[in-house]
Amino acid sequence: MAAVVITGASRGIGLATAREFARAGDHVHAMCRNPAGAGDLHSLAAETGNVTLHQMDVTDFASIDRAAAEIGDAVIDVIINNAGIVGNFEHQHIDSMDYDAWRHVLETMMLGPLRVTQALMGNLARSKAAKIIFISSEWGSSVYDSKGLYLYAYASAKGGLNRVAQLMAAQLRERNIIVVPIHPGYVRTDMAGPIADISPEESGAGIHSVTNSLTMADSGKFYRWNGTIHPW
Ligand SMILES: NC(=O)c1ccc[n+]([C@@H]2O[C@H](COP(=O)([O-])OP(=O)(O)OC[C@H]3O[C@@H](n4cnc5c(N)ncnc54)[C@H](OP(=O)(O)O)[C@@H]3O)[C@@H](O)[C@H]2O)c1
Repeated sequence: MAAVVITGASRGIGLATAREFARAGDHVHAMCRNPAGAGDLHSLAAETGNVTLHQMDVTDFASIDRAAAEIGDAVIDVIINNAGIVGNFEHQHIDSMDYDAWRHVLETMMLGPLRVTQALMGNLARSKAAKIIFISSEWGSSVYDSKGLYLYAYASAKGGLNRVAQLMAAQLRERNIIVVPIHPGYVRTDMAGPIADISPEESGAGIHSVTNSLTMADSGKFYRWNGTIHPW
């Protein structure tokens, strides 16, 4: 049984991934901004007995430290850094940039994941098979064709996150910690809407399967949810 931390676990891809791990018998530390309102996570906890809820906003470092303190000295085997936002959809390009929204996107998807990971490094060090997953995006790939849509804020955050993941993979190799960014697919969540390609269940099952299959030889690669390699 692995112990898994998932951020942004209240809905969408985070919730679907939490279901996969908890139903497989792993213990999920489900991080969410509003535990009282996270009905689906409470249902999952009642169903499996494998879920602990913690309050965490990844842009609020004090809340990260509080959640880490709740976990204490327990071993953590996997961190799924999933929490994310698109930002101000209409105003993130050359003709109109909402800079406050851009800062918030960077804090949520670049700084936050690093801070969460840092707070749990001692817990990962106690694992025999530690893995750090960053839920990235094809938008963070330098070869992604955005087909006329210009999301400077979102793309820069995921591109920066990918570089952080590459550097971290190199730095943590000697500590035997696997680091991998995963593009979760174009998924029918609140973020992408009903026109997207795949269900949250398919994405969550893929993330679960890829995470479980990773070995040190895979560290520093950029994966898709379906186990194929995404170009940087
Ligand atoms: N959907 C796609 O097609 C797609 C494609 C590529 C990558 N992704 C990435 O996949 C991840 C999950 O996306 P999704 O589609 O599941 O989005 P979603 O349905 O909008 O869910 C976003 C999740 O992130 C949480 N969150 C947002 N800001 C947070 C913060 N500051 N602190 C903690 N939690 C926060 C939300 O919590 P609340 O419930 O409290 O708001 C929610 O649980 C994101 O990193 C996204 O960029 C998604």
